[in-house]
This record gives sequence, structure tokens and C-alpha cells, in this order.
Amino acid sequence: MKHDHATAVLGTLACVDLDRWPIHEPESDAYARKLAQVRAALNEEGCSRVDGFIRQDYREAFDAEVGGVAPQAHFSTSSINPYFTPDDPSLPESHPRRRYSENTNGFVAMDRFPENGLCLSLYRNPAFQCFIADCLEEDALFTFDDPLAGVVVNVMKEGQQLAWHYDTNEFIVSLLTRKPQEGGAFEYVPDLRRPGDECYEDVEKVLDGKSDRVRQLSLELGDLQIFKGRFALHRVVKGKGERHTAIFGYAKEPGFIGRVQRTMKVHNRVTQAHIDAEARARNDGLAD
Ligand SMILES: [Fe+2]
Repeated sequence: MKHDHATAVLGTLACVDLDRWPIHEPESDAYARKLAQVRAALNEEGCSRVDGFIRQDYREAFDAEVGGVAPQAHFSTSSINPYFTPDDPSLPESHPRRRYSENTNGFVAMDRFPENGLCLSLYRNPAFQCFIADCLEEDALFTFDDPLAGVVVNVMKEGQQLAWHYDTNEFIVSLLTRKPQEGGAFEYVPDLRRPGDECYEDVEKVLDGKSDRVRQLSLELGDLQIFKGRFALHRVVKGKGERHTAIFGYAKEPGFIGRVQRTMKVHNRVTQAHIDAEARARNDGLAD
């Protein structure tokens, strides 16, 4: 992809450990080596830990910024199966589609973030965007036009969990800014299903705690995580103390704005931009 690195953007990269992750020099050998490492992990496991991405001396500032908006999170608790589908009594009780667990989502919307803060500056930084696109082997990625969903914080309070599930989005880019004192681990099972085959027996083993394929990703503060959750079942277990994660949303096409119903569910409100986008989408004759 084309890298256009005006020196102006380097200012907002001050928080990145450029010695370790030289995203400002995408033509360098060092960059190519690091990129190969991330791509290999994504291809093999659907998950890559971009370790120590944020410099040590900026980690506290990220925690302060994210921790500052965390009290504005909207929480919703529901009982989910891994597929977010309604119960199907025609199946046996042990079937993965009938296995429900408590799931709590807490999200802070992007408009709560300080406008020129660390999170939004990193999110909009062209070198950072190019790096993420390179990791995912995409020609380009674009920031959202959605006023609420571009960068969000996921807040997990003590005792809350994200139950086993698959993601509907193809990938997720996140940064751990606060870690529970204990627990709160991210667990995942690479390639548990594939297109056309849900592999229910293997999923059932995971849900029963009898699978030997479950992996734990031990994230440290300042680590980025790039994760493809469409085929890898995953969860975040309960922890002692709060867990904060900044999530950076990018799309393959410019102009992305989330749908009204989903935005209401996540943030409990919408903006005029969502209402206008919904009206435009309805006019294209498609069902969703
Ligand atoms: Fe997920």
C-alpha cells in the first residue's frame, strides 16, 4: 500500500515504541521483519499480540485518559449462546446453540473521548492505520464516520464476564489500558469452526471445559491485540478489579456508520448521523 508519512504525523506517534515497532519507516527491513511476525500469528491463530506497542512512559497516560471516560460506560447484561441466537428447544439441551451464559458489555462511545487525546490521535494517525492494514494484509483501512463507534472503551467491572462467542466483525484491534489484579484473561480457540461447518461437537467440548485447544493470551499493559474472531470462539473470564480496553474500529470502505438498532443496543442512544445513514440505507433496497 501507499505510505504517505508527512513529518507532521510523527508527533502523534510519540506514544508508540518506534524502536520496537518502526511503523514510521514502513520501507525498512526492521518493519518487514516485525510485520512478518504479526502476519504469521494472524494466519496461524487468528490472533496476534503486538507486544509493548505503547511506550512504557505513556501507559499511565493512556490509563488516565481511558479511566477518565470509563465511568460513562453504558452496560447491558444478557444471556447469550455463542451465536447470539434465540433458544431452539428442538435441539438437545447440551447442544452449543442451547448453552446460555451471562454476558455483560460495557462500552464508552467515541464522543466521550477528549478530542485531541491519545486514543483519538492514535486512531486517526495515518502511519498507525497503514500498519494495521499491513498486518491484516489489506490495501487500505478507513476510520469510521460513525460519531460513536470509531474508538470505544470496553469496561469490565469486577465479576463481569464476556461469555464464549464468535464475532460478527472480521477483525478487532484493541489496546489493554487497565488490567485486573487477578483473572480477566482472554481465552480463545483458533479455527474452531469454518465456513459451512459449525463443528458443534468441538464447541460443546470447549463449553464443557473438556477441550485441549483453548489458549490463553496474556496481555500486558501497552500491548495491542489484533484478533480475528469470526472463526475463533473466545471469551474474557471474570477478574478482580476493572479491565479497560480501547477498541479501534476500521472498515474496508470509507464512510462506515453503524445501524440504528445495533447502536441503540451498544450505546443506548444514536446521533443524527445514524438516523440519516439509516434512511439512505433503506433506500438502497437491501434488507440489512
Ligand atoms: Fe468478541
